[in-house]
Amino acid sequence: MKIGSVNIEVPVFLAPMAGITDYPFRILCKEMGAGAVYSEFVSADGIIRENTKTLDLICFEETERPIGIQIFGNDGETMSQAAKYVVDRFRPDILDINYGCPVPKVTKKGGGSAALQDLCLMDDITVAVVESVPEVPVTVKMRAGWNHETIVIPEVGERLQNIGVKAIALHPRTSKQRYTGKADWSYIKILKESVSIPVIGNGDVCTIDDMMRMFDETGCDAVMVARAAQGNPWFFREAKARLEGQLIPSPPSLLDIANMCIRHFDLLLENRGERTGTNLMRKHFSNYIKGFPGASIFRQKLVTAPGLAEMRIALNEFIDTAKTAELKPAF
Ligand SMILES: Cc1cc2nc3c(=O)[nH]c(=O)nc-3n(C[C@H](O)[C@H](O)[C@H](O)COP(=O)(O)O)c2cc1C
Repeated sequence: MKIGSVNIEVPVFLAPMAGITDYPFRILCKEMGAGAVYSEFVSADGIIRENTKTLDLICFEETERPIGIQIFGNDGETMSQAAKYVVDRFRPDILDINYGCPVPKVTKKGGGSAALQDLCLMDDITVAVVESVPEVPVTVKMRAGWNHETIVIPEVGERLQNIGVKAIALHPRTSKQRYTGKADWSYIKILKESVSIPVIGNGDVCTIDDMMRMFDETGCDAVMVARAAQGNPWFFREAKARLEGQLIPSPPSLLDIANMCIRHFDLLLENRGERTGTNLMRKHFSNYIKGFPGASIFRQKLVTAPGLAEMRIALNEFIDTAKTAELKPAF
């Protein structure tokens, strides 16, 4: 598939996830076969103020391409300046606008999914961003509406397409739903039928079978996966094999999981330093280490280890066990 002029070989994307889809995790998912990866959402205000922590979220490696950088904000002027800054300085393949974040801290200020309540604001922001970065395809990630009474699909699809948006990723819950209930994939199908630009389906894809079902039921051009990829970059390896009709690889062994933990941890330490790296890794350990006998003991030790030295000791114990055990993870 193509998004604007960007060629994407595997139509299975790693979704943006705040606190999760940093550079180390994106690299691992890309190596496993993800067709495109996204940064977490980055504040347009922070970008134009050149806040160091904000700009750190945008840094990426060449091997991550094609990569989308996602920005959020509440007015056209700030968003267009931020988009231009990101494109000039970092040269991502795709610039994505977040119209999906339901968190009140963001929506109260008019950012994220607040634009679903005010389509004029959505138009203003989208026009400003598209015009400010003509050399890069602008995409949108959105929810189906603010609440069940104000669903904006399919109306919004054509509107965004006419402004010049090159693809739309839809998580078909409402903002008010947050993560409750089920993603209603029928909205993905309706959106797909209303536009000619690519539609990326998202929401409740937990298994490879779910992914195939989403392609079949909605006709979407690509599937975007968030929670099912946490602690499971192998999702993309299996997805690619399934789509390409190749032999499905065996699930990761305990040793594969242990080695992935080490690689992830090393990348994080190198990228974020000891303090932040060890803190961030706790949440990743709890995502990786589950679903096999004895997992809770290793997970507990790794997640509660007070510092780097203790974490290394717990990780070595896990590796020793993985090397000798016949245990099979239940992926
Ligand atoms: C921890 C976490 C952080 C997220 N952060 C973002 C974000 O920064 N930007 C965004 O557009 N969506 C974000 N999302 C939403 C996901 O991209 C995705 O739309 C949602 O989780 C539904 O997909 P899933 O069922 O595959 O998890 C986040 C989700 C999770 C679980």
